[in-house]
Amino acid sequence: GAPVELDISGMQPGDMKTVEWRGKPVWVVRRDPAVVEALPKLDDQLADPNSERSPDQLTPEYARNPHRSIKPEYLVAVGICSHLGCSPSARFEPGPQPSLPDDWQGGFFCPCHGSTFDLAGRVYAGKPAPDNLEVPPHKYLSDTKLLIG
Ligand code: FES
Repeated sequence: GAPVELDISGMQPGDMKTVEWRGKPVWVVRRDPAVVEALPKLDDQLADPNSERSPDQLTPEYARNPHRSIKPEYLVAVGICSHLGCSPSARFEPGPQPSLPDDWQGGFFCPCHGSTFDLAGRVYAGKPAPDNLEVPPHKYLSDTKLLIG
């Protein structure tokens, strides 16, 4: 499949765009700086906080860092659950919500079997999904243009 270009100018913290790449949905989320700063605090609740499982398939070298991304404020991830391939939904609002931990910090919820992912696409421990969400190959062509693939 051909790489896909996305204009990210105008994205505000909390905004999410979805583009299709190789038949898969790719999410681009602009995270609030406070969210990025809080990510390491979730590490002990996650199955693989440092993305050490299958790093070559799931997390490119340039995303092997605490925010799993090139630019701290932008998450780029394939929106397909690593369990059986359902599409998780965005639950960005922190705080208690049905089916989510009481201290939910925002992220994604898979409706099929209840896997939860943080705002770096990292799966919570004890969930059926075996892995974090995939970070697709990507790069920034400029401050406002992202190339996926
Ligand atoms: Fe997502 Fe099973 S497909 S939890």
